[in-house]
Amino acid sequence: MNVHNRPNTPVLDSYWMPFTANRQFKAAPRLLASAEGMYYTSTDGRRILDGTAGLWCVNAGHARREIAAAVERQLTTLDFAPSFQMGHPIAFDFAERLAENAPGPEGAKLDRVFFTGSGSESVDTALKIAIAYQRAIGQGTRTRLIGRERGYHGVGFGGISVGGLVNNRRVFPQLAGSDHLRHTHDPARNAYVRGQPEHGAELADDLERLVALHGAETIAACIVEPVAGSTGVLIPPKGYLERLRAICDRHGILLIFDEVITGFGRLGMPFATDYFSVTPDIVTTAKGLTNGAIPMGAVFTSRPVHDALMQGPEGQIELFHGYTYSGHPAACAAGLATLDIYRDEALLTRAALLQDAWHDAMHGLKGLPHVIDIRTIGLIAGIELAPREGAPGARAYDVFVDCFEKGLLIRVTGDIIAFSPPLIAEKKHIEDIVAMLGDALRRAA
Ligand SMILES: Cc1ncc(COP(=O)(O)O)c(C=O)c1O
Repeated sequence: MNVHNRPNTPVLDSYWMPFTANRQFKAAPRLLASAEGMYYTSTDGRRILDGTAGLWCVNAGHARREIAAAVERQLTTLDFAPSFQMGHPIAFDFAERLAENAPGPEGAKLDRVFFTGSGSESVDTALKIAIAYQRAIGQGTRTRLIGRERGYHGVGFGGISVGGLVNNRRVFPQLAGSDHLRHTHDPARNAYVRGQPEHGAELADDLERLVALHGAETIAACIVEPVAGSTGVLIPPKGYLERLRAICDRHGILLIFDEVITGFGRLGMPFATDYFSVTPDIVTTAKGLTNGAIPMGAVFTSRPVHDALMQGPEGQIELFHGYTYSGHPAACAAGLATLDIYRDEALLTRAALLQDAWHDAMHGLKGLPHVIDIRTIGLIAGIELAPREGAPGARAYDVFVDCFEKGLLIRVTGDIIAFSPPLIAEKKHIEDIVAMLGDALRRAA
């Protein structure tokens, strides 16, 4: 059923919407018409405070003129150029700028950059690089990929194979041999924690168990989100990532951090790699890379991983992988302008300044009806609600719709509400988010 009699509502039939209950949505659509700074405006003219930076991507706030101008300049100078066996300067310039700011410690930065078009493409690229690396160093039996329960790594066949969300997996075949660590969510021991929880580092030993089960010589890489976002904000227990790194080292397994949401300042450091002081071999990014303005992803690899593949005859393509839009000129222009904004406004460390106020405000919601856990790190919060009897997810969905109607965009996964506001947020926005969410939670009771 369509709602064609509302003002400014387009015909809704043809667009098959992603990750959406299409029929439910089209019966009562929520449409955004414009955006500026911290706010969207809906098609019926209401101002909606963006509690989610779009989908974890608009870190510098909406409608940044500098990005728009850079993209326009680029499109009227060089709109597109082939990316295979050809190059264009802006892609090299952007990679150099990213390399200067790459994740990892001085002297061991992951400063080799492969461009993709999205987070999903970054993940599949990283998995393929890992397998190709193992083969290049004479470890061709290592093709198995390890992910984690409740992990989200996009929707490519590689990403869903290492991902751990059953709804994304059950209909589709997966890469043979992929396996999973247990997730680290343990509200019985770790409820209402600010930052990293105390309990659960030992869950990293699952990787030892998988090595014992499959043999290290079959495992190419292990991929985890340093902080899992899409599955409801799961923060790594203290010591967990360090332990995972040590086990990978022990067994020649590459460690991949999927930083599609944690990259570019979400935790108050440029990357989660820096925040946790644990350096993986490969980092995947997208989203905040271009402030969400133009689709793009980037995979950062260590020198050893990159250099192992730069072998053999010089005339030979080293990695049979790439996209038409790898290093797209307009996306690179958006990315360079985004990096300028991040630098000029110190946005990649701004979450560190805001986090105390943010955590205080969010944890102040403790005790509201049906709230069973609140967890915060950087400028992220997860608020878990008790599911309604026989209708998992329904309570949080109702809160989501209610918030939207009252002027706040939140994100829900199951019965977990996730917040990740733009990094330009001021204290007043934090207060408004908490006030509006608190009212919605009281109404939901
Ligand atoms: C950790 C992580 N990896 C990968 C992706 C997939 O990114 P995209 O939707 O751009 O393909 C997401 C998207 O939310 C993500 O959160």
